Amino acid sequence: MSQKIKCVKGVRDILPPEVDVWNFVEGVWKKYFSLYGFKEIRIPIFEYTGVFQRGIGEGTDIVEKEMYTFLDKSKNSITLRPEGTASVVRAYIEHNLYMESPFNKFFYSGPMFRYERPQKGRYRQFYQMGVEVFDDDSSEVEVEVIEMIVEALKEMGFNDYQLNINSIGCKNCRPKFIEVLREKLKGSMDRLCEDCKRRIDLNPLRVLDCKKDSCRRVVSEMPVITEFLCDGCREHHHRFKELLVNRKISFVENPLLVRGLDYYVRTTFEVLVGNLGAQNAILGGGRYDGLVKELGGPDVSGFGFALGVDRMVLALKEDVREKSYDYPEFYLAFLGEDVIPYSFEIMNLVRKNGHSLYTNFRGRSLKSHMRLANKLNVKYVVIIGENEVKKGCALLKNMENGSQREINISDFENFLVNYN
Ligand code: HAM
Repeated sequence: MSQKIKCVKGVRDILPPEVDVWNFVEGVWKKYFSLYGFKEIRIPIFEYTGVFQRGIGEGTDIVEKEMYTFLDKSKNSITLRPEGTASVVRAYIEHNLYMESPFNKFFYSGPMFRYERPQKGRYRQFYQMGVEVFDDDSSEVEVEVIEMIVEALKEMGFNDYQLNINSIGCKNCRPKFIEVLREKLKGSMDRLCEDCKRRIDLNPLRVLDCKKDSCRRVVSEMPVITEFLCDGCREHHHRFKELLVNRKISFVENPLLVRGLDYYVRTTFEVLVGNLGAQNAILGGGRYDGLVKELGGPDVSGFGFALGVDRMVLALKEDVREKSYDYPEFYLAFLGEDVIPYSFEIMNLVRKNGHSLYTNFRGRSLKSHMRLANKLNVKYVVIIGENEVKKGCALLKNMENGSQREINISDFENFLVNYN
C-alpha cells in the first residue's frame, strides 16, 4: 500500500457526528447575533498583508511570528487572515459603509489561520465567530454585547465561566504608563525571558501577558494600568463596571489583561473556562477607537469580540453535546428487492412531511437493517415487506419503547403530520 496522505499539522477535519455539535454552537450564536441586531458580513479569507500589519500592529506575536504570508504569482504579499476585525474595518472603509450612517453592527464567522504551536484548544486553522459595532463609543454598548454573550453561554449550558475585564487606557494616558513600565522593566531585565527583553523597547505591554513564571513574578511587582487612566477613560471604565453590576453580570478585574492585538483602547475583556487547560480563553474582545482612522477611514469608534468555536465545542458539557447530535428520525428497512418501488413512495412521504430518513440499499436482512438503525439512534423504523405492499400499509417500530404496529398509509401520513 502506498503511504497514507495526511492533514497539515495543526489543522483538523471536523467529522460527523462532532460536526453536529459545531452546528449547534454556531446556531446558538447566530441566533443571538440576530436578536441583538447584528448583520452578517462575509470577508475574504486572505488579504494584502498590510491590512493585518497595520491593523493588528507590527510588534504583536501575530504579525511577528504567526501569519501565513506568501507572495502570489504577481508578487503581491498575501496573508491568510489571522483574525476578522482588521478585515471588517477594511471592508467598512472600502465600501464607504459609514456614508449613510456610521453606526453599523456586523457579525462574521469562519476559519482563521495562525502559525502557533498546536496543542489542545490551539490550532493553526481555527474557527471564529465575532461581532463588530462601529460608531458607538459608549460603555452601554459594551455591556449590551456582554449581556448577549452571557445569554448565549447560558443557552449552551455554560455556568462556570469567568468574565475578566480591564481598561488599557487611550492614546492620551497609556504612553505615560508605558514609559513608567518600560523603566521599571529595565530594572528587572535579568529576570525576563529573551522575548520579553526584546519587548521592553518594542512593546512593553506584551510583557504583561507573558506566561513564563519568571516574567510573571516581575510583572507582579509592576504598577497597573488602571492607576494611570485619564479622566475620560476612568469615567468610561467606571460606567462600564456600574452597568455590569446593574445587569447582575459578575466579572473579575484583571489589570494584566492587555490582549495580544495592538488596536485596543479602553475596555478589554475575555471569558475563561475551567476545563480547557492552558488554552482557556473561549472568547475575547474590546474597544478599538482609532483603528478605522488608522486604516484610512473616518474617525469612527469600534467595539467587538470574537469567540473560538473550536474551544467552545471542546468546553461544552457532555449532556449538551449529546443533545446536539442530529440523528435521523426514521430508518426504512425493506425486505427484498421487489418492495423497493413501494419503499421509495414511503420514503418520499416521510421526507415530504419534513422528517429525516435514512436507509441502506445494500441492506439484505431485517437484522442488518436493525443493526444500522440502532447505530444511527433513530426514533422509528418503518419496515416494508411483501405483506405491507399487498395491504398498502407499513410496520412502524418505535425504537424507544420497542413497540410495533401495522399502520395504513393515510394513518401514517396523519402520524407524520402530527408527530414532532
Ligand atoms: P483573539 O483573542 O486573538 O481576538 O481571538 C479570539 C478567540 O479566538 C480566542 O479567545 C480563542 O477562543 C480563539 N483563538 C485564537 N487563537 C486560536 C487558536 N490558535 N486556536 C483555537 N482558537 C483560537 C481576536 O481575534 C479579535 N479580533 C477579537 C475582537 C473582535 N476584538 C474586537 N473585535
